[in-house]
Amino acid sequence: MRTFLHVADIGPLGQALEEAAEIKHERYRYEQLGRHKTVLLIFFNNSLRTRLSTQKAARNLGLDVIVLDVNQGAWKLETERGVVMDGDKSEHLLEAIPVMASFCDLIGVRTFAGLTDREADYAENVLSQFVRYSGRPVFSMESATAHPLQAFADLITINEYKEKARPKVVLTWAPHPRALPQAVPNSFAQWMQAADVDFVITHPEGYELDPLFAGNARVEYDQMKALEGADFVYAKNWSCPGVTRPADYGKILCNDRSWTIDSAHMAVTADAHFMHCLPVRRNMIVTDDVIESPRSLVIPEAANREISATVVLKRMLENL
Ligand code: CP
Repeated sequence: MRTFLHVADIGPLGQALEEAAEIKHERYRYEQLGRHKTVLLIFFNNSLRTRLSTQKAARNLGLDVIVLDVNQGAWKLETERGVVMDGDKSEHLLEAIPVMASFCDLIGVRTFAGLTDREADYAENVLSQFVRYSGRPVFSMESATAHPLQAFADLITINEYKEKARPKVVLTWAPHPRALPQAVPNSFAQWMQAADVDFVITHPEGYELDPLFAGNARVEYDQMKALEGADFVYAKNWSCPGVTRPADYGKILCNDRSWTIDSAHMAVTADAHFMHCLPVRRNMIVTDDVIESPRSLVIPEAANREISATVVLKRMLENL
């Protein structure tokens, strides 16, 4: 595997899930694979789970790890070609990428959507330059439009906790005080479409996800109707993807707190498990009682980030 950006990069999901189960059972089994090799983790924005889980995964495989926080201690990077660099950015990505690549064997990149220019965000301007110019295998640790390590961990979690062969999984929009990217719901939708689940998305009108990720997933605008009989409820906020309203890309279109997942929402499900990628704003996205209930999976879901990252790094090391 040379890149890990989308579900297609992981190949057959059944095989990936088997590998995840094997690694979870014996997570140091491949600790010789990364000997004398280095992974560079580059963060353009904040992270708790991705930062910790990817480092732990790398160490499971015997890799040396270098973490670079671009905005804390490194030169500010220009990402656009053709810019006269007379501002506060001292270095261009086009020099920085090959320099960074010379110190490592694998590169993980965490970027964030600007949420002002849909075309630029969906072109993945920063991540695509790492793929093109580093000469190294590159994996996404969340980009402007996708978060595949999260979606893989979500799938592992659903596979572990499902109580029927083909569970009903509902992705529901929920309110948030700040405009957030579509990366998590995009990848979750993409991975659920590829998995053997009954998948439904529910959100207020205007929040339609890009078909590039959501495919032809069923959308039900009535949240309560969507949640009926659900086995897994995956809550997440996202800002307007600009699919049906291009001028509103990145904006908050709705603040309706009736979309917050509470016990009344969970009561219409089939005693569903609650999921969220974290970090979560309590009593905006989900009420205290739901996230603290025995059916909440947010902690095992986060813990599975180590497993998804270990599988991905192992695959990359095997193909160096
Ligand atoms: N879910 C997730 O990616 O968390 P962090 O932003 O803390 O890495």
